[in-house]
Amino acid sequence: MFRLKLSKFFIILITLNICLHYSCNTNKSTKKLTIGFAQTGINDQWRKSMIKDMEIEVAFYPNINLKVLDGKDNIENQIKNLEELILEKVDIIIVSPVKSKPITPYVEKALKAGIPVLVVDRKIDGQNYTAYLGGDNEQVGVNVANYISSIAGNDPKKIIEIKGLKGSSPAYDRSISFNKIINKTNNLNVVHSIEGNWEEYSIKDSLKSFLKKEKDINYIYAHNDRMALGAWDVLKELNLDNHVDIIGVDGLNEPNGGIQLVKDNILKATVFYPTGGHEAIKLAIEMLNGEKVNKNNTLETILIDSRNADIMKHQFDKIYEHQLDIIKQQEKIKQQEDTYTKQSTTLKIVLALFIISITLGIYSIYSGYNIRKKKRELEIINKKITKQKKEIKKIANEAEHSNEAKVNFFTALSHEFKTPITLILSSIESLTEKQSTYKNNLKNEISIIFNNSKRLLRLTNQLLDFRKVEESKFTLKASETNLLDFSKGIFNDFESEARKRNINFTLETNNKDLSIFIDRNLMDKVYFNLLSNAFKFTPNDGDISIKITDHKERNFINVCFKDSGIGIPSDDLNTIFNAFTIASNNTKASSGIGLHLSKEFIELHKGSIDVDSKLGTEFTLKLYKGDTHLKPEEITYQSAEIDQSIITLDNEDNDNYFSEASINKNSNTGYSILIIEDNLDLIKYLESKLNINYNVHLSNGIDGIEKALEIIPDLIICDVNLPDKDGYVICEILKNDLRTSHIPIIMLTVLDNEESYLKGLHSGIDSYLTKPFSFSVLSQSIKTLIYNQEKFRYNFLHNVKDINFKKNIATTEQDFILEINEIIKKNRTNSTLSEESIAADLNISKIQLNKKLNAILGISISDYLQIEKDKNALNK
Ligand code: FRU
Repeated sequence: MFRLKLSKFFIILITLNICLHYSCNTNKSTKKLTIGFAQTGINDQWRKSMIKDMEIEVAFYPNINLKVLDGKDNIENQIKNLEELILEKVDIIIVSPVKSKPITPYVEKALKAGIPVLVVDRKIDGQNYTAYLGGDNEQVGVNVANYISSIAGNDPKKIIEIKGLKGSSPAYDRSISFNKIINKTNNLNVVHSIEGNWEEYSIKDSLKSFLKKEKDINYIYAHNDRMALGAWDVLKELNLDNHVDIIGVDGLNEPNGGIQLVKDNILKATVFYPTGGHEAIKLAIEMLNGEKVNKNNTLETILIDSRNADIMKHQFDKIYEHQLDIIKQQEKIKQQEDTYTKQSTTLKIVLALFIISITLGIYSIYSGYNIRKKKRELEIINKKITKQKKEIKKIANEAEHSNEAKVNFFTALSHEFKTPITLILSSIESLTEKQSTYKNNLKNEISIIFNNSKRLLRLTNQLLDFRKVEESKFTLKASETNLLDFSKGIFNDFESEARKRNINFTLETNNKDLSIFIDRNLMDKVYFNLLSNAFKFTPNDGDISIKITDHKERNFINVCFKDSGIGIPSDDLNTIFNAFTIASNNTKASSGIGLHLSKEFIELHKGSIDVDSKLGTEFTLKLYKGDTHLKPEEITYQSAEIDQSIITLDNEDNDNYFSEASINKNSNTGYSILIIEDNLDLIKYLESKLNINYNVHLSNGIDGIEKALEIIPDLIICDVNLPDKDGYVICEILKNDLRTSHIPIIMLTVLDNEESYLKGLHSGIDSYLTKPFSFSVLSQSIKTLIYNQEKFRYNFLHNVKDINFKKNIATTEQDFILEINEIIKKNRTNSTLSEESIAADLNISKIQLNKKLNAILGISISDYLQIEKDKNALNK
């Protein structure tokens, strides 16, 4: 990008350079030459007229520049001016010397410096100059002398001569030639001469004092008209103006010029003395052009008196008009020149722009080619990137799939954990019920197994909860709950432990009737986690308290869990709620997600949890009163109860109804029935009807198999259309599992067709009832199936050794019993025959043996062994 801009900049620079070069060349061809003019002074009319004529002439030459320096009628000033022009190296010098002698060396200096010098009007000393041009001053003197002589007659006449500046050549020449002629006459006499300096003031005093003495004067000859006018002033003052004729020199055609003075009878005559302005410039240009010029160029003078004054004025006016015309034309020419210059500049700019645009055009074609080339390269790179991107995406997908597979595996495995653990737990539980038959240490072992199984189940549930939290799958199901009653339920679970360890465990509240909206299952987990931690880290004889505070004036409450345990180091307090974080002083087995889940669950309630640890640890929950902080879908108005059993800790998706299913243990047969059904009304109906005679368990269909394995019911009633697996699949799974294969299943469905019925039979069901059904039919079916099962058990127990199972129809259960019988038979005389040895021979654990036997025959292995021993004793 930068390179592109830089090269563009250079192209424009080169183009402008070319244009500049072109314009410089044009300037060179019109190089200006300077004529330096060291003028005597610039104030009197004669000098002004001279400079004006020069300027008019110079205007014809556009390459000539005229530089006029004012000597102020002072020789020192003029010398300085000359030196300046020499230093400046002007092309030619014109000088009109104030005085002849003092200026001569400087004229020579200029010549030495290679500058030609044109002397005008007044001469220098000697001939060392390039050329001279000026009026003929000797002729001026001659003209005046001849004129006086012509008008004087023969009588003696007296003349006063008023001279120009002494040392200037016109004053000298005008005097010498005049006196030469006057001296030759008999009657004319120059009676007095006055030294002037060309200006009228210079002669007045001197003339006045002379005239006061000598009044009888006939003629005054003044070397110029300005001094002549001064003389007239004096004559007028002395009333002699009518007696004396004055003759001046210069004859300018100006208001106070000589011609006008003649016309006004102030002067008798004047001699026209040309300024030579035009001629001087013409001559200088010839010299500059290297043309050969005459060294001395004299201009004619003419005497003007009353006879030719009008003609002369007329002539001069004509010349003046002509000059005006020339000036006007020159101005026009100048204007045209300006226009031409402007147009020429515009043309140059247009030309330059044209060249620039052509250059840029060429450049843009070149750039376009380059861009296309770059584009092609980029396209290739882009393709490569796209390919790489696809590969990365593929790898990422694979990684995602593999990760998902891992997570799914982890989840499935966790689920898998739950069933065996639950079974272990329930087995242990049932064993514990018969604990009186066990010795004390066995009881302890069972309790260790029980507690650890509970712990395993809790951890599994925590892991599953963690996954759900991570995937934001939890939805709050808050219902209005009396907080004290809720807390008491959990308090009771921990009370026995507190008693055993002599821990002062208390629960207090300042409002027994306080009810708030909580998801009881989630809050149960929070309480359980906080209390487990408190009991884990509090030594025997310590204190643990739950304190509920209702801030009556405010919209929230606090639940504070305080212990006198080891506490949490202050450095860990900030991170203790992070997942997988364990306090640095915690040496006990901990998952590191319990507190994290608690925090997440409390935040789902829009509340907060805080920790403080000084002496022991204190967790404080902040929960809001009312339901305005919750979304409508987060609130449930069904009366949900916590299933206080361990299994309920794993209660993830069950409908509240299913979790609250109560088992009526009074006045029933003791047989258990599992109903797998997702229609709540039907469930309620069946439960209410069957509850009287049976222990009823419920499943909404999602956890049907799990519940069956967990409960091992005596009979299952199963629907076909269920939310997860259909009834056929559930039945098939249960019938193929050794633990549940013996359980009779009644399929209860709306599918009233042969195909569905056959499908049901294939899946191994025992009875097929269609909806709407008669409860008495259902009731009778249940009774019959349970009765048959009992009969089956009885036969096994009492006649199994006589039953000759045909190999091809032998079921898994029959094989299993026959194998046990075979072992007992073989080892009848062997005193080591025991429950353990039978389990070992079957290659299963004693617990598994008991579980299986219990499922098939409803008795334990020890009872079965006893029956067999009794039978053998009878047979002997
Ligand atoms: C002008 C002037 C004229 C005179 C001339 C002589 O400065 O005084 O009046 O004729 O100079 O150089």
